[in-house]
Amino acid sequence: MNTSKEKDYVKRKILFVCLGNICRSPSAEEIMRTLTKKKGVEKFFLLDSAGISSYHQGELADPRMRAYATKRGYNLTHRSRPVETDDFYNFDLIIGMDDRNIEKLKEKAPGLDEEAKIFRMTDFCINKVVDYVPDPYYDGGFDNVIDILEDACEGLLEKELKNIKV
Ligand code: 4NP
Repeated sequence: MNTSKEKDYVKRKILFVCLGNICRSPSAEEIMRTLTKKKGVEKFFLLDSAGISSYHQGELADPRMRAYATKRGYNLTHRSRPVETDDFYNFDLIIGMDDRNIEKLKEKAPGLDEEAKIFRMTDFCINKVVDYVPDPYYDGGFDNVIDILEDACEGLLEKELKNIKV
């Protein structure tokens, strides 16, 4: 018997993935979390992010990314971790930021069912016409990254809510 006050909701589990897990994907995770809270549906989602590379494992998001995110109202507290095989079983959606992320995710997917969980962030955009979320680590463009992620998260949440009984 469930004696806790909070009902056990079936959660949609979404993993956002970029190369280092210190710029784009932790921002996507927090932007999506903020949006689900704003719409009062956070209990229906489990959100996380990970990197193709383990180079920055354990680190907070890049200080520049955190500063730009803070200015836009997002507090990035995630610590970088690499994608693991279990992620392909544990998450419903695995969303990459660019071609290279998607290619590497496909290589890492343990089977065809798991490969079918891989999506591209920009495919959820509503207003922005872009093919990928550009890597800001060397070239900057942090505000542009946030703009694209906000638009994609709006589209993603809209799609998800159609599949969830609220
Ligand atoms: P991210 O950005 O994939 O958006 O987290 C990068 C972070 C670090 C590196 C590259 C991209 N790096 O080469 O260390």
